[in-house]
Amino acid sequence: MPDLDPQALFEIIRNRRSVGLSRLLPDPIDLDAVRWMLDAARWAPNHGLTEPWRFTVYTGEARRPLSEAFAEAYRQMNPGDSYSEEQETRQRNRPFQAPVWIAVVTHRDENPKMPEWEDVIAVGCAVHNMHLMAYSLGLGAKWSSGKVSSHPHVAQFVGVQAPSKLLGFFYIGKLAGEWPECQRSPLEEKVRWAEA
Ligand SMILES: Cc1cc2nc3c(=O)[nH]c(=O)nc-3n(C[C@H](O)[C@H](O)[C@H](O)COP(=O)(O)O)c2cc1C
Repeated sequence: MPDLDPQALFEIIRNRRSVGLSRLLPDPIDLDAVRWMLDAARWAPNHGLTEPWRFTVYTGEARRPLSEAFAEAYRQMNPGDSYSEEQETRQRNRPFQAPVWIAVVTHRDENPKMPEWEDVIAVGCAVHNMHLMAYSLGLGAKWSSGKVSSHPHVAQFVGVQAPSKLLGFFYIGKLAGEWPECQRSPLEEKVRWAEA
């Protein structure tokens, strides 16, 4: 076994945070950092070695058609009175608020080896690996899985076909402001030690 530092690992896990767009700079980031994050992702556990994660990276001008896909998804979701031009613009601007957007996809074969939930969880583990790497590299990141980010029109744009599924986007950028804080409930509320 290599000489590991569990306290250092715990600090990374404990202090990793989701960093929203309002706290990120739109400036470009080193794409080698993104490659390292993606490399970390593929070492996630996955039942049956299905390696169900698929990622598409949008950066630079490649974000322009993505921004149009978000705007179109918003329009499709709001055909009537709920439509607001301001909200459409907000959706169109989102991809330019962070330099890198990664589409997160669960790949499924027609005759899948494992239940869907197991593959989806494996993809979640992969994204978490990316997130821990992002934090270790001093970058902010967040998983966006909302109605627009996972909309069928956006899935079509990314090239995702059923039974595969778009789980939204993981965006990354340099921090503009303070590192966010977040709380967790006490461990005792979530864990029961079974008694003999
Ligand atoms: C599967 C998944 C989907 C998420 N989707 C969203 C989202 O659509 N919008 C959002 O603001 N945060 C999203 N988040 C981030 C959570 O809001 C965030 O993890 C939570 O607030 C805890 O904060 P922390 O990550 O800093 O510990 C998502 C997280 C996960 C794991």
